[in-house]
Amino acid sequence: MTKQLLGKEVSASIRAELKTEIDTFTGRKPGLAVILVGENPASKVYVGMKKKTCADLGIESFEHILSQDATEDELVALLNGLNADDAVDGILLQLPLPSHMDEDKMLNTISPEKDVDGFHPQNVGKLLQGQRTFKSCTPYGVMEILKFYDIDPAGKHVVILGRSNIVGKPLAAMMVQKESGANATVTICHSRTQNLESITKQADILVAAIGIPEYVTASMVKEGAVVVDVGINRVDAPETEKGSKLVGDVAYDEVSSVASAITPVPGGVGPMTIAMLMKNTVTAFKEHQAPLDSI
Ligand code: GUN
Repeated sequence: MTKQLLGKEVSASIRAELKTEIDTFTGRKPGLAVILVGENPASKVYVGMKKKTCADLGIESFEHILSQDATEDELVALLNGLNADDAVDGILLQLPLPSHMDEDKMLNTISPEKDVDGFHPQNVGKLLQGQRTFKSCTPYGVMEILKFYDIDPAGKHVVILGRSNIVGKPLAAMMVQKESGANATVTICHSRTQNLESITKQADILVAAIGIPEYVTASMVKEGAVVVDVGINRVDAPETEKGSKLVGDVAYDEVSSVASAITPVPGGVGPMTIAMLMKNTVTAFKEHQAPLDSI
């Protein structure tokens, strides 16, 4: 029987721990600035969920909504203001940005100390070197799901489908570290990979993060592998009331019959991203407070 790896439950336990910790803070609460530029419908949903989770945990959220045609200068001015604002511990710039904005330039404007998404090159460099830093939330969530279910990547072949800066590359950096919960042998596959199936079939742990609905089929998966599905794709489903549904990058039903454990969509990796964002925000708050406490 295939085990379901329920990020929904793991994230609930992380959020509960965070709430308990936040309740002990006297005085100012942790603060997260959430910035949305433009009208991307999925981004609006994510930002709404982040705000709600902040409210549930006792984190103060500061929402900033810029129009689709906002300029880079306007966004830079906003980010610089938030960098200097002592009530703000973390800054979340929701991606994707409108195409006239240079995403790297905007992300680089965020102070590394407030970069709770772990996207600033300084923090990515630290992550690669195994230094303590903010870890990008989705790959951090993948690591935490495996830890929760006692699946140790040490010595295992982890194959990651997708080389994005948000998931594939930082996940590879986390998996390969010489530290508990990691120590994996890592392969990253992407759109130019040849003989893909021969590589995915070697995976002890297969992570799909390519954004193509139900791309990973049973023939690509080794018997008994652990399969982690990072994809969240909305597809037409005329049979449903809504007319659409969410599916992952993995053909869940057929892959379940081969895998020993698998994350469902929804309820798998998705809820972990926000939980880890909250954890990073609390970490940023504590680091931000510490110098003040020591005065
Ligand atoms: N868009 C999709 N995933 C993410 C994420 O983890 N952080 C931000 N800021 N934007 C995203």
